[in-house]
Amino acid sequence: MNVGVLVSGRGSNLQALLDRLQGGDCQVVAVGSNKAEAPALRRAREADVPVRVFPHADYADRASHDLAMADWLQARGAEIIVLAGYMALLDSVFIGRFPDRIVNVHPSLLPAFPGVRAIEQAVEYGVKVFGVTVHLVDEGVDTGAILAQRAIELGTMSDPAEVHQHLQRIEHELLPEVVLRMARGEVRRDPDNPRRLLVG
Ligand code: GAR
Repeated sequence: MNVGVLVSGRGSNLQALLDRLQGGDCQVVAVGSNKAEAPALRRAREADVPVRVFPHADYADRASHDLAMADWLQARGAEIIVLAGYMALLDSVFIGRFPDRIVNVHPSLLPAFPGVRAIEQAVEYGVKVFGVTVHLVDEGVDTGAILAQRAIELGTMSDPAEVHQHLQRIEHELLPEVVLRMARGEVRRDPDNPRRLLVG
């Protein structure tokens, strides 16, 4: 299965995907971004993966922006889409093009702390156990069905940057693992509860 990745930032999760997937049966075939300056794009170019920037300002609205991204990703052969630090909501037109095939990584144990500044909010709240969620994308904000989660004890950690470093180590392992499982057809919905995904 071919994977398309959307990024907006540093791209450490993209790097983890490239390191784990390239050269195998399931490869990253395209990397799209809404940010021309995203450092993630250099990682894609260095791995010889086609890159395209879709600046929001070039499109009349999010629907036409996301439609252009979906067209490009499909033309590159992408079947699974991974949001690896893609910091924008996706329009329903995009989601409809890749049903149950869009994966997001979020730095919290959903449904706690969806949306932006998840780590800062959790630290401020004083949670003791925190973690990472990999989930399918639907039209809500981090509301899609959960594929995998991993937790850590925060102990005395209270600096969001330090917590993020710990979470990223988990993300870099968990995200490629889930994408490979999805590519192998190991993800299905529980017939008795469609919100529940059975993985493996
Ligand atoms: C990741 O830590 C990911 O959890 C977060 O952005 C970071 C991107 O890092 N995503 C979200 O907050 C999505 N709501 P990266 O650019 O180094 O992969």
